[in-house]
Amino acid sequence: MATQLIFDKGLANTVAAETSLSFIDGEKGVLEYVGIEIDALARQSTFEETTFLLWNRRLPSQDELSSFERDLRKEYELPSGMIDMVRKIPRSAPPMHALRTLISALSFFDLEADVNTPAANARKAMRLVARTPGLIAAFDRHRKGKPIILADARFGIAEDFLRMLNGTEPTVAMARAFDVCLILHADHGLNASTFAARVTISTLSDMYSAMTSAVGTLKGPLHGGANEGVMHMLEEIGTMDRVDGWVQERIGQKDKIMGFGHRIYKSYDPRATYLKTFSQKIASDTGNTRLYEMSRRIEEIMHEAVAAKGIYPNVDFYSATTYASLGLDIDLFTCLFAMSRMSGWTGHCIEQLEGNRLIRPHAEYKGPHGVKYLPISQR
Ligand code: ACO
Repeated sequence: MATQLIFDKGLANTVAAETSLSFIDGEKGVLEYVGIEIDALARQSTFEETTFLLWNRRLPSQDELSSFERDLRKEYELPSGMIDMVRKIPRSAPPMHALRTLISALSFFDLEADVNTPAANARKAMRLVARTPGLIAAFDRHRKGKPIILADARFGIAEDFLRMLNGTEPTVAMARAFDVCLILHADHGLNASTFAARVTISTLSDMYSAMTSAVGTLKGPLHGGANEGVMHMLEEIGTMDRVDGWVQERIGQKDKIMGFGHRIYKSYDPRATYLKTFSQKIASDTGNTRLYEMSRRIEEIMHEAVAAKGIYPNVDFYSATTYASLGLDIDLFTCLFAMSRMSGWTGHCIEQLEGNRLIRPHAEYKGPHGVKYLPISQR
């Protein structure tokens, strides 16, 4: 009997995997990792503990967490060949292009790269999460002509990343703010980049190839690249008095405003709720409220114009101003997203392999049939 095929553009109504990593209720604005509300994790957890949760699908005991953190820190160090590779990348390269290449290159230095056993994949997941921050920081310093700073196992991931990037230890508040951003971005159902990772690993390729697919997919402005788009928009608008005119004009032209709308959320993205509060606090702590106030006004205008269509701020809208308040360069924003999502992507690959079936949908053929092949001399 012929299989009944359903055409579902953008796969918006297709369930393509089973997962127990994260749950999203787009109507109610709920996000849970392994059943725990994102808000509770953002308030009380750390990126390391959240990564343990996603990989093991339960919270660790204190001993388990300490040993997990030790294991992660042991993997911080980049193979020296990777540092050479960072130095060979043109300084003008956009950071997401550099990161995509560097994640792929990590496989050259991993003897287990092609071993797809659960234990080997768990070790590779650990290496990927532990080394991505060092790669991003090393490339950023290389492109700015500054000496590369190596990882230091005395520090947690968020703190050590800011230290490697800036050359100075961050304040406790800054490190915690960044840690929370990492928690909020760590996983999000079968989003486009996670789907790309699962498709790649479903062919029994390898974890590094899957992460390379994921980084390349995250880069797009309709996905992770939107956070950079938000900051470019705020820079283009420039001042508060220009917000209304700029946004109304774009709405009139039916342009998409970066940082708004989501395939799944038709109410407020719970990550945006948290980041909005965060962005406000950092703005008032630092006295630099311009970007936050502009964002608030954009949100008000958008609310009146498109909330009826279910368009609300997404995670990228207030993460952009939060990162900017932390002094992070705009063109690193999507890399920071990748650094966090690495824990979700690797967790999904492990989950995909637990009950793997090759992911291979159909395409509806729209072209002609029976066309005669004309030799080139007759065309
Ligand atoms: N600004 C203004 N209007 C919007 C926006 C927006 N950002 N997003 C959607 N709309 C409108 C569309 O014009 C459309 O209106 P219409 O029905 O009158 O034609 C309606 O809302 C539905 O939009 P779609 O594009 O069909 O929604 P879809 O689910 O395909 O797209 C997407 C979701 C890609 C996220 C979209 O909202 C968008 O492009 N947003 C801007 C980019 C962005 O912020 N991406 C980050 C997403 S979160 C993440 O990936 C981490």
